[in-house]
Amino acid sequence: MKLLITREIPQAGINILKQYRDIELDYRQGPPLSEKELLAAVKDADAIIPVIPDKINKKVINAAKNLKVIAAYSVGYDHIDVEHATSKNIFVGNTPGDLTEAIAEHAFALMMAAGRRIPEADRFCRSGNYKYWNAMNFIGPKMMGDTLGIIGFGRTGQHFARMAKYGLNMRILYTDIIRHPEADSLLDAEKVELDYLLENSDFVSIHCNLTPETENMISDNEFRKMKPLAYLINTARGKIVNEGALTRALKQNYIAGAALDVFENEPDIYPELKLLDNVVLTPHIGSATWEARLQMARMAAENVVDVLINNKPPRDLVNKELVKEKVSSLI
Ligand code: DGY
Repeated sequence: MKLLITREIPQAGINILKQYRDIELDYRQGPPLSEKELLAAVKDADAIIPVIPDKINKKVINAAKNLKVIAAYSVGYDHIDVEHATSKNIFVGNTPGDLTEAIAEHAFALMMAAGRRIPEADRFCRSGNYKYWNAMNFIGPKMMGDTLGIIGFGRTGQHFARMAKYGLNMRILYTDIIRHPEADSLLDAEKVELDYLLENSDFVSIHCNLTPETENMISDNEFRKMKPLAYLINTARGKIVNEGALTRALKQNYIAGAALDVFENEPDIYPELKLLDNVVLTPHIGSATWEARLQMARMAAENVVDVLINNKPPRDLVNKELVKEKVSSLI
C-alpha cells in the first residue's frame, strides 16, 4: 500500500512507518508540490500525509482513487475538504494536543516581541543606527497586570492564559462557545462577549479554529473597538483576520501593534504590512519546537498505521461521523 508524504517531516515518523513492509513510501522531500504534481502523486496512494500548504481539495481527493486516509501533519485541517473526504468514506486524522505548549509559547514570545519592539530594535542595531543611547527610543508597555483577551479558549488559549497569569499576573478575558469553569476559577478568567473583550484588552490573542463563522472575524469594525494602545496576536489561522483592515488599523493608529504567525494567503503577505514597523511577522512557526514537530510526525505516522495496517480508524480522527455511521449500521 502506498503512502504519499508530500514534504520532509522529522525522521521519528518515518521510523515508525519503515517498520511495516506493506507500506511503500513515496516520500517527497523537495519544495511544495504544485497542484499538477500533487494530482499525479495521489493517483495510486492509499494514504497521504499532507502538510499545511497542500490543498487537499475535491479535485485531489477525486484523483486519489484508492485513498483510505488523509493523516494531516498538523492539528488544523482547514486545508483539507473534510466533508468531501467523509462523503467518500476517507478517514481524516490530525495531531491534536501535541503542539499546545509550542504555539502558546510562540504567542507569548510574539506578545513580548511586539510590546517591547524587539525586531525593530534588532534591525536598528544591525543597520548601524545605534550611535548613542536615547532615553526616548523603543518605548513599549509594561505588561505586568495588563489585560489579555483570548479568542478561543481551548487547550492553546488556556495554556497561554496560564503563562500570562502566573508570569505577568494578567487579567484574563476570553470568548468561546462554552464556559470553562475550571480555568475560570484557577485563572480568574472571565468569559465575555467579543465586543467587551476587544474594548477592554491590552493584548488580544487569537486561538480559535478557522470556520465559516470565524473567517474574517476581526476586521475594520473590530479594530475600531480595540484600545489605541492594544496589540493583536494571531497564531491560529490567517483568514480569521482581515489583513487589509489590520494594515489600515496599524497605519491609522487604531491599535499600537500586531504580531502575526499566520496570513490570509500564506506564504503571501499583504504587501503594505511588510512595510510597517509596528507589526512582527513570523512564517507560521508556532509549532516549531523539536518536541512538537517530532510528536506531530509520530502521530501522523500512527494515524496511517491504524488504517493501513490495523484496519481501524485513525486514533486521532477528525471526521468522527464515519465511525458513528458504521456503529449505528451494526445496531
Ligand atoms: C497546526 O498544526 O495546525 C499548526 O498551524 C502547524 O504549525
